[in-house]
Amino acid sequence: MGFAISVGNKMPRRLLTAFIAALILLPAPGMAQDIAAGEAVFKKCAACHAVGEGAKNRVGPVLNGVIGRPAGKVEGFKYSSAMADSGLVWDEATLANYLKSPKDLVPKTKMAFAGLKEDADILNLVAYLKQFADDGTKVVAP
Ligand code: HEC
Repeated sequence: MGFAISVGNKMPRRLLTAFIAALILLPAPGMAQDIAAGEAVFKKCAACHAVGEGAKNRVGPVLNGVIGRPAGKVEGFKYSSAMADSGLVWDEATLANYLKSPKDLVPKTKMAFAGLKEDADILNLVAYLKQFADDGTKVVAP
C-alpha cells in the first residue's frame, strides 16, 4: 500500500516527469502509425515547412529526410544558434519530444510553434515525415 507513491516521492520530480513523458511517447506495440492521418497533421506545419520533390526552405527548413539527420544542417537555411548548436539528432524519439513542446527541448528555437498535444498526432506525423528521402522522393517504409 502506498508503495508507488513513496517511490515517487523519493525520485526527483524532473526525472519522474521525464520518465513518464518517455513512456507516453514510446509507440506501444501494435499501435499503428497512420500516414494519411499524419499528412493531415502536417497541415499545421505546412505554413512554414515544405516536404516532397522540389521542396524549398520557407519560414522553416525543408523537412525531407529529417529522420536521422543532425539538427540545424539544411543548406541555405539560417537557423537560430540555439538550434544550430543543439547537438541534437532527429531520431524518432527526439523529434517526437520536440514536436510535443519545441521550446522545452530547444529553449531559444525560433520555431514559433507551441507543440502538438496529442501523442497519436505526433506518431502519425513522424510516420508521414519518415516517407521522404533527402531528395524528397518517397521511400517505401520497411
Ligand atoms: C510558424 C512557423 C513554423 C511552424 C508552424 C512549424 N515550424 Fe518547424 N521550424 C520553424 C523554424 C523557423 C525552424 C528553425 C528553428 C531554429 O532555427 O531555431 C523550424 C525547425 C524545425 C525542425 C528542425 C529542423 C532541422 O533541420 O534541424 C523540425 C524537425 C521542425 N521544425 C518540424 C516541424 C513540424 C513537424 C511542424 C508541425 C507540427 C513544425 N515544425 C511547425 C518554423 C515553423
